[in-house]
Amino acid sequence: MTEPIKITAELNARPGTHYRPETRLVHSGTLRSQFGETSEALFLTQGYVYENSAQAEARFKNEDPGYQYSRFANPTVAMFERRIAEFEGAEAARATATGMAAVTLALMGQVKAGDHVVASKAVFGSCLYVVEDYLPRFGVTSTLVGGFDLDEWRAAMRPNTKTCFLETPTNPTLNVLDIAEIAKIAHGVGATLVVDNVFSTPLWQSPLSLGADCVVYSTTKHIDGQGRCLGGVILGSEKFINDNIQVFLRQTGPSMSPFNAWVMLKGLETLGVRVRQQTDTAAAVATALDKHPKVSKLLYPGRPDHPQAKIIAKQMKGGSTLVAFEVAGGKAGAFKFQDALKLVRISNNLGDAKSLITHPATTTHQRLKPEQRAELGISDGMVRLSCGLEHPDDLIDDVLNALKAV
Ligand SMILES: Cc1ncc(COP(=O)(O)O)c(C=O)c1O
Repeated sequence: MTEPIKITAELNARPGTHYRPETRLVHSGTLRSQFGETSEALFLTQGYVYENSAQAEARFKNEDPGYQYSRFANPTVAMFERRIAEFEGAEAARATATGMAAVTLALMGQVKAGDHVVASKAVFGSCLYVVEDYLPRFGVTSTLVGGFDLDEWRAAMRPNTKTCFLETPTNPTLNVLDIAEIAKIAHGVGATLVVDNVFSTPLWQSPLSLGADCVVYSTTKHIDGQGRCLGGVILGSEKFINDNIQVFLRQTGPSMSPFNAWVMLKGLETLGVRVRQQTDTAAAVATALDKHPKVSKLLYPGRPDHPQAKIIAKQMKGGSTLVAFEVAGGKAGAFKFQDALKLVRISNNLGDAKSLITHPATTTHQRLKPEQRAELGISDGMVRLSCGLEHPDDLIDDVLNALKAV
């Protein structure tokens, strides 16, 4: 067939917002060509050609709706953005090269010198670096708050507070912050709220519906879910994305590659079944660890003994694919346990089909001072288990056997 590829609206007209979320994860955003391919095409191209000079001119004047350059937009990336936006209930989304690119852009895109940012201390280490070290270099001051105490958020607000940032459930302690209440506090001074929703996944928590203005993901985690590609995404209203993100992304260039977008797009199709299964497994692991003599503390969102069970009940639709627990014997106990695992591998990553274990105090949170870790509840014996897609009984056997080494 020699006819040029045309994206045909007729073949794509089926998905709609009336479908249930799982259906949207499979169908939304598909741009099918006239060849009628079942799986979405990978448009692995940097640029686009124009039929004539007038079309090139019109494209650059935004009078002809087409693609110009893949740093700005690409059909495969657009399919991923549309699909995740429809699932999240967001008007718009922009995909980025990594999760950190998404967080950096979501914050930097909103502020200018003289502005102020309030963030929870319990965020991923690199996010903390952006808020604490990087923004102040450009004249943007920041205040870090403990997170749970709403009065601390209230007290931190200033007339020039432009945005607030939090992560919930938190890494690695799986504590939960009240998105709706913090959004109200931010809006009270005209600030926005950005939520890093990585630990809950789009399946279990919808920050925009709770009042947040922007949601960010490292799609590297559950959205890929099989350890292949890095990626990130920023979601919000058309206005939020147009005012803060679109131009910054286009001009500074942390865009997602079409190949990675294609992997993420296919990842979304299985996100629902994977995250449900991984969550059920994590709940089963938590039950197996409950009152275990070698486990001094257990944190699992979804259990009635979780310290923020009331907030979880009002803002989350499901638990977590992760379990955090404290192994008896501090660092030595945690190391003995991790090294005795046969199936679960030691890694700092999460959300993968393969179960992974992390000792935060010596890896992801090693940069923090001991007193900062203590404040966040990250003890020397704490480990974070990301449950994969193995049979839950094999995982439980592995964990219980390894605890015998402690
Ligand atoms: C909560 C959270 N946010 C952001 C990131 C950064 O994502 P990426 O590694 O894709 O840049 C991570 C990565 O571990 C994370 O766990």
